[in-house]
Amino acid sequence: MNIIPRPARLTRQPGFWRPTPDGVTLRIERTGLGPEGYRLSVTPDGVLATAEDERGLRWAEQTLRQLEADGQVPCVEIEDAPRFPWRGVMLDVGRWWFPVGFLRRMIDLAALHKLNVVHLHLTDDQGWRMEIERYPRLTEVGAWRAESMLGHHRDQRYDGRPHGGFYTKQELRELVEYGTSRGVTLVPEIDLPGHMRAAIAAYPHLGNHPEAELPVPGEWGVHEQVLNVEEETIRFCQDVLAEVMEVFPSPYVHIGGDECPKQEWRESPRVQQRMRELELPDEDALQSWFVGRMAEFLSAHGRRLVGWDEIVEGGLVPGATVMSWRSEEGGIAAAKAGHDAVMCPSSHTYFDHYQADPDTEPLAIGGLTTLAQVYAYEPVPAGLDAGAAHHILGTQGQVWTEYLPTPEQVEYMAFPRLCALAEVAWGTTGDFAEFEERLARHVPHRLT
Ligand code: ACM
Repeated sequence: MNIIPRPARLTRQPGFWRPTPDGVTLRIERTGLGPEGYRLSVTPDGVLATAEDERGLRWAEQTLRQLEADGQVPCVEIEDAPRFPWRGVMLDVGRWWFPVGFLRRMIDLAALHKLNVVHLHLTDDQGWRMEIERYPRLTEVGAWRAESMLGHHRDQRYDGRPHGGFYTKQELRELVEYGTSRGVTLVPEIDLPGHMRAAIAAYPHLGNHPEAELPVPGEWGVHEQVLNVEEETIRFCQDVLAEVMEVFPSPYVHIGGDECPKQEWRESPRVQQRMRELELPDEDALQSWFVGRMAEFLSAHGRRLVGWDEIVEGGLVPGATVMSWRSEEGGIAAAKAGHDAVMCPSSHTYFDHYQADPDTEPLAIGGLTTLAQVYAYEPVPAGLDAGAAHHILGTQGQVWTEYLPTPEQVEYMAFPRLCALAEVAWGTTGDFAEFEERLARHVPHRLT
């Protein structure tokens, strides 16, 4: 049986059920299996799925779907529940805009693998993708760039072709609904105070050099130009987050926080003056203050802040959840300090890295993370005591898209590594060879 992620307990019974439209009963009831857990009973007479929540029923349906082969379903008794509550995939729609239909497909593929989070990286230097009514230039200007890099970054070649696009709030609301009905939460990310060139192109007063011509760049990488720390800029970010919260009901809102070079802040007399006013010892503390202003705002609206592990550096703000990407260290520090963490180290969960010998693969950013490595990943770092380990919410695969301009390329890189990570996150990994055998049915069909 080709189920991915493999169920915790599965017993084959004699016989088969031939699917009929009214043969499936779904029931919410006390099962003792906890959040997202489900019991699935397939007999020749029909199917009964029970769970304590809607998500559990959605996962039961996915299992049923995977059990079916040649028009029949083998009779089974299944009891199943996930190891981790956060099982995610991040898609970078900042570097390239993708059609909404493809985002729906990514939600479908996540749900098929019982992943319950699709994290949308909605903004980056090279493009702002979410309509914000209060600041229309974010998409009028920030969603478009004159050209994009061709080949590898080191080649410094450009295609000369404009690229852009954005999602209306209505499109995103519909996408949220689409996810909810499939058990998938959409977690929005607005990346700040670095990776903000698109916003600065739209509203130069947000930057540290309002007089400079700073278009939306076509170059990948980490840009030196970041937000300033004026009260007006804080208000801008909070206004944006307010509209993000209107559209995305997710309890978590991601504020990025990664790769914010501090050079501009060190050189700006105005920023240095602000630091003195705020009695902050250094620029890391200033970033922590910036993130803290976002955390307070989100918290006042009943939401929780998530950020990349750089937010640990100047001191973690109360209640923040850390996405540990550069290594396990950020997650370990967070968990030991009583903060939640999602483990997504680039060594095991960055699916923009090569998955096989680069000589045989399409151009990628670099690295090498094979399917076997992903399958062997253990999200709870060694050495955490039980109390700290409890703060590890789960794991997530990252699909950064600098080198993936089309949906086909995104899928090629995301799968089958995401199948392996889904099983890691569900907590039922075993023999890799056996996993590979089950994988055959899961290699996604090409887009038609
Ligand atoms: C990241 O990869 N910059 C989070």
